[in-house]
This record gives sequence, structure tokens and C-alpha cells, in this order.
Amino acid sequence: MPSVRLKSYAKLNLSLDVVGKRPDGFHELRTIFERISLADDITLSLNKSGRISVKCNHPHVPTDQRNLVIRIAQQLQVDCSVPLGVDIHIEKNIPVAAGLAGGSSNGATVLMGLNQLWQLKLSTQQLQDYAAWLGSDVAFFLYNTPFALGEGRGERITPIKTSTKLWHVLVTPKVKMLTKNVFGYLSASQAAFKLKLTNKKAGVNILLPFLYQGDTQGIASHLSNDLEPAILSLRPDFIDLKMKLQRLGSLGVCFSGSGPSVYALASNQAHANALRLAFDQRYSQVFVVSTL
Ligand code: C5P
Repeated sequence: MPSVRLKSYAKLNLSLDVVGKRPDGFHELRTIFERISLADDITLSLNKSGRISVKCNHPHVPTDQRNLVIRIAQQLQVDCSVPLGVDIHIEKNIPVAAGLAGGSSNGATVLMGLNQLWQLKLSTQQLQDYAAWLGSDVAFFLYNTPFALGEGRGERITPIKTSTKLWHVLVTPKVKMLTKNVFGYLSASQAAFKLKLTNKKAGVNILLPFLYQGDTQGIASHLSNDLEPAILSLRPDFIDLKMKLQRLGSLGVCFSGSGPSVYALASNQAHANALRLAFDQRYSQVFVVSTL
């Protein structure tokens, strides 16, 4: 039976502006996504029985409807009247519920993989619609671009054309941060202090020219994430982690997405390796990653 092996990459957010709250409860965002070298390995094996199954080496990854890969496979099978099934194997390297969009990336990868394996011939628009239905961070991974601007819920993607390559030390504390809870905390605190969500800071607009120019120092000075106050309110101990990374001599430090992953920007690969060696050995999930 035919099978395909695919890489499913993680992302970081270089800048994340929360620009408003929408009537559907989601937040309007402007963000710069960066695809990074940290990746899961996914194998899709065709079966003729119509069975859809998922196996994963990581014990905390659900193998039922909560997993986006099951959701998309079942939906495609129904919508496209596919008599075939698929056995999905996920080799997890990306930390789970960590602000790195591992689950979203797996969903996008299986969507593209099944389009190929089940010969569905879905149009670009159909792929984008399925991605948006699956989740806010899924669409970015359809575009095969190292950097992109994400707007709307994050699902409206404009690729950014630049040859810039960045190096990071990524630290993921072993704590689950649910995106829903971080956005929920942000909304509640905005309401409590009667603050308006506006795009005053416009972090994305400020960072973009530095990204185009490949000005690593400029990028580092303008990393920002509007979810950071909510992340730090939920986990005040992460202030210490951020400061530790700053003190090592990195160019800049920022949380990715809704956390808890935090990354330090390095000037090159050797600098990233040196930072990683100097970093507190007590943290188990520390990676040197680059733009991919
Ligand atoms: O789209 P996704 O399933 O990844 O979103 C998870 C949760 O994060 C949503 O249910 C919502 O509470 C919150 N969210 C948001 N605004 C966004 C993206 C996510 O409020 N733009």
C-alpha cells in the first residue's frame, strides 16, 4: 500500500499584535510567523478498509477527535466520499500545547498529505478553507514560506519574501498553556481595566523593515508579543526564565504565541550554540533552531 513521509514544522511568532476582539469571540491579530527547523515526522499509510487511525510516540497527544489530524481526515473522507482509509503515525519532536503550533502544523501537513494520497485534487481555496476551519494557526503551514504575515484570526496569510535566516535558542517549560485560557485572561483583564485593544504599538509594522533587510539586531530590538502580560500573569515564574535568557547575552527574548515557549535570538549558529551551552541545565526542553 502506498505511503508518504512528511515533515511537519513548528513556528515562532516574531511579533504578535492583538488589535481587537471580534463578535465571534476570537481576537483580531497581526503577527509575523517564522517557520523553524524543529519538526515532527508524519507517515501516512493508505488502507483499503476505510479505517482512520493515529499513533503517536508521545503519551500526551490525543489519538481521538481532539487531534486535528483525525478531524481533518474524517471530514475529507465524508466530504469527498473517499472509500479509502489512512493510518497516521506521528513522531513527536515539537513540545505539545507550547505556543509552537505543533498540532496545527500536523493538521496542515495531513490535509496536504491526504490531498496527495487520496488524490482529492482540492483547489488552493479549498485547502485554505479547510485550514481555517481546523484552527487559527493552520493556514500558515500551507504556504511553504519561511516567514509570513498573519491577519484576521491568524488564518489570513501573506508570505514575506526575504532570504533572512535567524538562529534561536528555544526554551519550552514543561507546562501546558492553553491558548484559550491565555486569550481569556487577556480579555478579562482588558475589560477589568477598561482598556481598549488598539494597534497603537503596531509591533508588526515596526519589525517588518528589519526583517526584509535581514537586520538581526533590529529584529531583536523589536520582538514583541501582546499576549506576554497575560502569560506572565498566569505564570509569574516565567519572568525569571525570560530574565535568565536575557542575561546570557542574547540579542532579544520573546514568548511565542500563547506560550510557554520563549526564545532568545542569536546573531548566528555559533552564538546560538554558545547560548544553549551557557543556559541553565535544569531545563530539559531547550533547542537550537533556525528559520526553515
Ligand atoms: O483557532 P484555535 O483553535 O487555535 O484557537 C484556540 C482558542 O484561542 C480559541 O478558542 C480562542 O479562545 C482563542 N483565540 C482567540 N483569537 C485568535 C486565536 C485564538 O481568541 N485569533
